[in-house]
Amino acid sequence: MPSLYGLLTFLSATELLLAITTFCLGFWVVRATRTNVPKGLKTPPGPWGWPLIGHILTLGKNPHLSLATLSKQYGDVLQIRIGSTPVVVLSGLDTIRQALVRQGDDFKGRPDLYSFNLIINGQSMTFNPDSGPVWAARRRLAQNALKSFSIASDPDSSSSCYLEEHVSKEAEYLIIKFQKLMAEVGHFDPYRYLVVSVANVICAMCFGRRYDHDNQELLSIVNLSNEFGEVTASGFPADFIPVLRYLPNSSLDVFKDLNKKVYSFMQKLIKEHYRTFEKVEAVEEQVVVGSRLGLCLTLCSFASQGHIRDITDSLIEHCQDKKLDENASVQLSEDKVVSVVFDLFGAGFDTVTTAISWSLMYLVTNPRVQRKIQEELDTVIGRNRRPRLSDRPQLPYLEAFILETFRHSSFIPFTIPHSTTRDTNLCGFYIPKGRCVFVSQWHINHDQELWGDPNNFRPERFLTSSGTVDKVLSEKVILFGLGKRKCVGETIGRWEVFLFLAMLLQQIEFSVSPGEKVDMTPIYGLTLKHARCEHFQVQMRSS
Ligand code: HEM
Repeated sequence: MPSLYGLLTFLSATELLLAITTFCLGFWVVRATRTNVPKGLKTPPGPWGWPLIGHILTLGKNPHLSLATLSKQYGDVLQIRIGSTPVVVLSGLDTIRQALVRQGDDFKGRPDLYSFNLIINGQSMTFNPDSGPVWAARRRLAQNALKSFSIASDPDSSSSCYLEEHVSKEAEYLIIKFQKLMAEVGHFDPYRYLVVSVANVICAMCFGRRYDHDNQELLSIVNLSNEFGEVTASGFPADFIPVLRYLPNSSLDVFKDLNKKVYSFMQKLIKEHYRTFEKVEAVEEQVVVGSRLGLCLTLCSFASQGHIRDITDSLIEHCQDKKLDENASVQLSEDKVVSVVFDLFGAGFDTVTTAISWSLMYLVTNPRVQRKIQEELDTVIGRNRRPRLSDRPQLPYLEAFILETFRHSSFIPFTIPHSTTRDTNLCGFYIPKGRCVFVSQWHINHDQELWGDPNNFRPERFLTSSGTVDKVLSEKVILFGLGKRKCVGETIGRWEVFLFLAMLLQQIEFSVSPGEKVDMTPIYGLTLKHARCEHFQVQMRSS
């Protein structure tokens, strides 16, 4: 064995100094992050981490998989370090329910992350560290505004609600577009068109207009959403290791650029709403510009709501009436009210597009499942009228397919990071105030104990012997979060996915060009994506 003297002769003075500095820094980090644990409680367990970088290398390219492996060893409450920041990772349905529902107030915070502060100039309701009465009032405002312009009924239309009306316009457009692409090119990438159609649905609700599929401004925003997901996903290194913000980082640069673009896109729309708000009040009805399909910048009319055309108008009205929040008596600044529309727009298109896009991937790789959905649609609805929301309870197989797509893809593997709002005790583990918390939805949806064969894609698992949807099992699929921070748009998200799929599958059959394979390997981000596939084909269904 070499002696210490022998070892020293091999090291230069500089190397020795570097080694001592690294050791001291590591020691300081460990001491600084050690917390005083109250008697009777324990610190969450976790693996040994490197000084300075912590467990960044362990997380690797697929943190949801690495952390699921760690949870097998350390349990449902474990602790890692990213850089010098300790992060608690929660897995398992019972543990996550305990934290987010039963101890919801303790876990409803958001960490103060560098990237989160770049979103809407730090004004975002979703990504802001505020979780007090102002956040609660803004969340209620978002829920109410969303309800009025999505699931409320539109008396001027034969559709059951605004959402159904918007989706049917977009689905009609997509069916025609896909047929045209088949005639001209013979194959296409559905994501490119789907993303604009889904963005148009949220644009109609938020801003009362839709965009042409070639509109460059909208395309430049929706096509950058991958970078948004990469940066806001759990474990983005530059959030935890400040020096990385100053080194060349293309994802972060694109993220900053995207935020600027979205901000100026929405500012323009909001200014236009302020400018026309009073004028609109004076007129009874809005002129609808464009055709039935509204190919370009259609201004929608919401005569039923008086002069309030859309969510932005309803937020402006809220400011002008200087309404107090009914429950908390919180007076919100105008900025805080109107910027809620940014959160809704931002959250409303990438999630739904990703859901539908994964659904199409499962359909083309499971033609038997696609046939069963279409047989069900034929029996329940036929081909002579379009599917409606009220058909949903009569279409259990389609419902089971959507649930299995949510579960199997788990395309939002972690919720948006949470943080603790006070010192707390979770399952006997001490978690101090302000601790960053990752919540693994992927782990619940792939838990062997819950699902038996989690890796198999099997919609039938959600059907009872009498063919109805197993409600208890369906509630174990967690993709919208739980508790106080649960997704504001859950109902809309679920309904929109249902409507798009029912309307598309009633008319067309999806496949891939002969000899082509689709790549289902998930690419990590806030939403897990699949590789884009140029080889989709459609065929009109024969009657
Ligand atoms: C399939 C579609 C969707 C999925 C899977 C989904 C999922 C999620 C998840 C996982 C969260 C984070 C929960 C947490 O941090 O614990 C979230 C938050 C949120 N979602 Fe959704 N979402 C979807 C669609 C929508 C839509 C259509 C809207 C609005 C139009 C929306 C608005 C929001 C908002 C505003 C938040 C932030 C809530 C807060 O921080 O208090 N989402 N969503």
